[in-house]
Amino acid sequence: MRWPGLIEAYKEFLPVTNETPMLTLNEGNTPLVKLERLSKEWDIELYVKLEGANPTGSFKDRGMVMAVAKAIESGSKTIICASTGNTSAAAAAYAARAGLRCIIVIPEGKIAMGKMAQAMMYGAEIISIEGNFDHALKMVRNISEQEPIALVNSVNPYRLEGQKTAAFEVCDQLGFAPDILAIPVGNAGNISAYWKGFKEYSQHKGTGLPRMYGFEAAGAAALVHNRVFENPETIATAIRIGNPASWNLAVSAVEESNGLFDEVSDEEIVSAYKKVASSEGIFAEPASCASIAGIYKSLQKGRIEKGTKIVAVLTGNGLKDPDTAIQVSEVNIKHLPNDEKAVTEHIKGVVHQ
Ligand code: F0G
Repeated sequence: MRWPGLIEAYKEFLPVTNETPMLTLNEGNTPLVKLERLSKEWDIELYVKLEGANPTGSFKDRGMVMAVAKAIESGSKTIICASTGNTSAAAAAYAARAGLRCIIVIPEGKIAMGKMAQAMMYGAEIISIEGNFDHALKMVRNISEQEPIALVNSVNPYRLEGQKTAAFEVCDQLGFAPDILAIPVGNAGNISAYWKGFKEYSQHKGTGLPRMYGFEAAGAAALVHNRVFENPETIATAIRIGNPASWNLAVSAVEESNGLFDEVSDEEIVSAYKKVASSEGIFAEPASCASIAGIYKSLQKGRIEKGTKIVAVLTGNGLKDPDTAIQVSEVNIKHLPNDEKAVTEHIKGVVHQ
């Protein structure tokens, strides 16, 4: 059957009325892939939900299609968001699809190149501020209260409604909920959305509930330390957030599910980022790999038992951030003249190493 997109596929679980447009870029229905090598090495059953396979390359499409459809339904002509890059890419894409104006406010110099390229190509109005995401979010929240502009950050409840569908898919793909759902945490919307999704699906289909393990970057670990980080910093720019908007919802998700929050350093993130790409063929952006880094750390701390079934959410595609990939990669490119003999000699050396 042809996949109809999220709103159509899950309308019985979503706030859809007769007036809601069936907007779609065929988001959702992303692969769940078993990490064979890591599962063996770590003695667990580890799967990744490849959210980078969404149309704009991140999980944000799930929430954005719903938020933009509801904005159209309520007569909005303009949407606005603050973003570390992925939300703005998704907002700009769905706005282009729907014929709406899109305004994005982003932190200067802290947006991965692919995400910037997307916002530009989709034709958003781009405002780059000399501040961080938390500052940008405050600004767009205020302006959306004064002007007829729909705010499409995850403080918009329709965003979480759309994003909860990823939990439905995980349950359908595994047959039931995993023991643990590991997820990177930035503004804390996605962990809240997954938990809502698992609870709703379990009520309807008896799929059970996972423990929610949320991982923040150590330089932006507000929930781990229960304090705002005024100057968040991390290589994982997507989760460079010091005052998560869905703070309370995320804390409830972890408490209700008997899960945990923990932090992972940039080194741990980069190590997971390289490992997943080079040993599993899966290229996810650095922030996404906080989930894998977090699992490794939890294993070392004895917080995960052998044989545990875990789904890690890989929230965004590695191609979003080519600069970081090239910076951290240890691959040396061999530069040779246009000379078949020299190339052949070199390849023979590689093969017979
Ligand atoms: N992973 C990626 C790749 C992200 O882009 C984000 C958030 C997260 C994880 C964290 O999700 O905020 O729901 O806890 N990116 C937002 C943005 C903030 O503007 O694109 P969260």
